[in-house]
Amino acid sequence: MNFFPANLDSLRKLYVDQLEQLYSAETQITKALPKMIDKATDPHLKNALQTHLQETEGHVSRLERILNQVQGSVDSKKCKGIAALITEGEDVIKDTADESVRDAGIIAAAQKVEHYEMAAYGAVRTFADILGNEEDATLLNQTLEEEKHADMILTGIADTANVKADKAA
Ligand SMILES: [Fe+2]
Ligand SMILES: [Fe+2]
Repeated sequence: MNFFPANLDSLRKLYVDQLEQLYSAETQITKALPKMIDKATDPHLKNALQTHLQETEGHVSRLERILNQVQGSVDSKKCKGIAALITEGEDVIKDTADESVRDAGIIAAAQKVEHYEMAAYGAVRTFADILGNEEDATLLNQTLEEEKHADMILTGIADTANVKADKAA
């Protein structure tokens, strides 16, 4: 039973709510990526994660800019989805002894995060379009393209990293 009235009673409020969750997500990712970079062995993987950490810092800045414009302040609402995916990534690092198997696990964990972000940015970009916030839609689309690109790079690295992991004793 719901004792509290639902407060997301417009697309604009839902838009802000989703942006605040993405802000939380990106902030969590900026903290998680350095640990993944540290535990990765493949130099291509380390490099790709490092590049995406820099891009992710840009994603945080874009959201700050958008939230400031939309509501005059930058608030965060804990993103439970990304928190769970980050925990999965930490678990796979703990549970793997072989370096190449760990790399394959880190790639899988990172790609889950990218796909979550792609879904979330696709949704808010569409909301921005419908709400007539063209500038927001452009910024959100730039981030969406960087998430897709990061995912594509990881797929390429997985091609060789997974074969290497398969040879682990
Ligand atoms: Fe991101
Ligand atoms: Fe990302």
